[in-house]
Amino acid sequence: MNRNILIFGSGGFVGSYLAEEFTSHGYRVYGTDIVEPKSSRQFFHDYTSLDMLSFDGVLRLMERSAPDYVVNLAAVSSVGDSWRIPQKTIEVNINGTLNILEAVRKSGIKARILLIGSSEEYAPSAYPISESYPVNASNPYGISKVAQENFAGIYRSSFGMDIISTRTFNHTGIGQPEKFVIPSFVRQAVEIERSGGNGKIYVGNLSAKRDFGDVRDMVSAYRMILESNTSERVFNVGRGICYSLEEILKYIASLVHGKVEVIVSPEKFRPVENPVIWCDNSRLRSATGWSPKYDVFDAIRGMFGSMASGRQGNS
Ligand code: GDD
Repeated sequence: MNRNILIFGSGGFVGSYLAEEFTSHGYRVYGTDIVEPKSSRQFFHDYTSLDMLSFDGVLRLMERSAPDYVVNLAAVSSVGDSWRIPQKTIEVNINGTLNILEAVRKSGIKARILLIGSSEEYAPSAYPISESYPVNASNPYGISKVAQENFAGIYRSSFGMDIISTRTFNHTGIGQPEKFVIPSFVRQAVEIERSGGNGKIYVGNLSAKRDFGDVRDMVSAYRMILESNTSERVFNVGRGICYSLEEILKYIASLVHGKVEVIVSPEKFRPVENPVIWCDNSRLRSATGWSPKYDVFDAIRGMFGSMASGRQGNS
């Protein structure tokens, strides 16, 4: 019998890949978002446009879709945006999650819930971080995700709900909005290549080191966590290899025939950020058997090719 999954935030970058992942594994995918889906509707059994801040709407959808699994991807998901709109970040990321938890509780549905959190929840570390490393977020987005995880804890202990939280590290792929670093660099590189000459790439903090995965590996990890019989409640989801943005930029610039001049823009810097965020994914590997199939350079080549051919309309 087909199982049902309800995905909040399924109109966005990761949501599109997640819908495809579950549809191709035989699930009936119910999607919802405030926007229309980025990917084709063929990956959805049902798609509802909905503001997750409307509790009545969330409750009705929960009852109608009767999900076995619920995933929350809906969020203000950019750290940079969260500095510009901290109130909205807290409102969407915390009240939206609470609406999902309350709708599951009030409807009495026995769904397993996966809440997508972030490596931005962690305190600084120069080394790979495991789930036991201290949490101490340093930006509004990270704080909202720590709060989401804390709410998961009290809904588990108070109401016996089956909730798993991820701390997901950076990831990229075709379709990621250009406000994020890799599609921003790739778009600028593609424009230089198209011009047939030399050009400039505008960048922020190139000394930051991040652990970039491919979105296709991230969504398979989410499926494997949901399908596992794990008793763990928190999972790091990340590739396990860390590069500086300078190394990433060097690779992207090497795809261009002309000469690339790098311009550092102060407005692209954040007020504060962790110098290194690097994933220890041992728990995920041993609990689910997951292992990544791609690396960040595969993703970059795919994005470059897609943007160069005009196939992809990144927002
Ligand atoms: N956006 C951007 N633009 N970032 C730049 C640039 C630039 O021109 N130059 C350097 N960076 C650096 C940022 O300072 C940061 O250290 C890193 O690139 C990643 O930035 P983003 O791609 O904007 O991602 P984010 O910081 O919003 O976080 C992403 O990863 C988290 C996991 O760690 C998001 O996907 C979050 O949702 C996710 O939880």
